[in-house]
Amino acid sequence: MKKFRTIFSVIFSMVMVLTCAMPAMAAEIFSDVSADAYYAEAVTYASENGLISGTEQGVFSPDIPLSRGMLVTILWRNEGQPQAAPSIFTDVPSDSYYAAAIDWAAENGIVAGYGENRFGPNDPIERQQLAVILYRYAAYQGNDVTVAGNTSFIDSAEIAAYAETAVTWAQKNGIIAGKSGNVFDPTGQTTRAEAVTILYRYITKNAQENPNIPEVDKDTLVVYFSWSGNTEEMASYIAEQTGGDLLEIEPKAAYPADYNETGDIAKVERDENARPEIANLPASIDAYDTILVGYPIWWHTAPMIIGTFLESYDLSGKEVYPFTQSASMDTEQFNQSIEFVREVSEGATVHNGLFARPSDTGAIDDYLSENGLIK
Ligand SMILES: Cc1cc2nc3c(=O)[nH]c(=O)nc-3n(C[C@H](O)[C@H](O)[C@H](O)COP(=O)(O)O)c2cc1C
Repeated sequence: MKKFRTIFSVIFSMVMVLTCAMPAMAAEIFSDVSADAYYAEAVTYASENGLISGTEQGVFSPDIPLSRGMLVTILWRNEGQPQAAPSIFTDVPSDSYYAAAIDWAAENGIVAGYGENRFGPNDPIERQQLAVILYRYAAYQGNDVTVAGNTSFIDSAEIAAYAETAVTWAQKNGIIAGKSGNVFDPTGQTTRAEAVTILYRYITKNAQENPNIPEVDKDTLVVYFSWSGNTEEMASYIAEQTGGDLLEIEPKAAYPADYNETGDIAKVERDENARPEIANLPASIDAYDTILVGYPIWWHTAPMIIGTFLESYDLSGKEVYPFTQSASMDTEQFNQSIEFVREVSEGATVHNGLFARPSDTGAIDDYLSENGLIK
């Protein structure tokens, strides 16, 4: 399972330093949240800050779907529970726990309901609805939500027209990631664990924004291939630190889930210097002049699909920064992979790469600082 633990732990450490208090970990509060669950830190944050409580004493129920009423309630709590005039919704009883939250969200244009004065507070929130509500909430909070382009999800045609901009915004800002196979699943449900993770990503991302820091650099692309999630973890963190747009390279023919089977295919690809096809290849990367390209070491070098990506464009004048990690962390294999990236990046300046474990955020920070890549 792909994880975002690194970025959360950094943000979480910052929160702890700022508050100078040791919050109780979610795993200590909820018997069904293990300390190493990908959502544990998000749940800790949400619980500590009174955004969400358990479904019963000591139980978080990470796998049950989040309802529309609950989502709005979390945002409302994050705003300090402001009062508002009663909404027009006839299916929101005034004595329900979510009534005041929905009143506030409706008054501020964060929710619009289904039409005919219905809100559907107990319906599970769809993933595209979550993106829209979060997008409107971001605008309400005064964030710049302008976004260009489209999503790169393979099912983007299934996203409802009203949600397209919001989903694009959520993807480009690293707030909602696709499911396996780069699928967005617009009408799919969101579990409480997923929703809290998404909200945590949004809240902490914006909490970190400081008006004294220059505008987010829109010309940086953080593109990566990851089979089992480690490079993805690193890439997400790097995108966060650099303000770059994040793009996952999705192979047209997905690699098998089995390690050995993938190993066999990858070995043939390497031996044949193959260029496996990419399912979500952007038409152009002209908008970017700085490209951070991430990959795991496969058979002592970069996966061949990195060659497919880099050879698809005219890279003249572009700055390329490879980053990678592997099981053995063998430097010779790393150097070999950099050589490969240089071969397939005609016209670009390929800088010395970063070879660090995804959890080593100190080394990642140092590399980004040394190369002037921190936003
Ligand atoms: C096909 C394949 C080949 C690999 N070859 C190497 C290798 O040559 N050297 C090494 O240290 N690790 C190798 N690994 C291990 C990966 O580099 C390591 O598991 C990495 O953390 C995976 O990153 P990911 O989660 O982003 O896919 C290989 C893994 C796979 C699947």
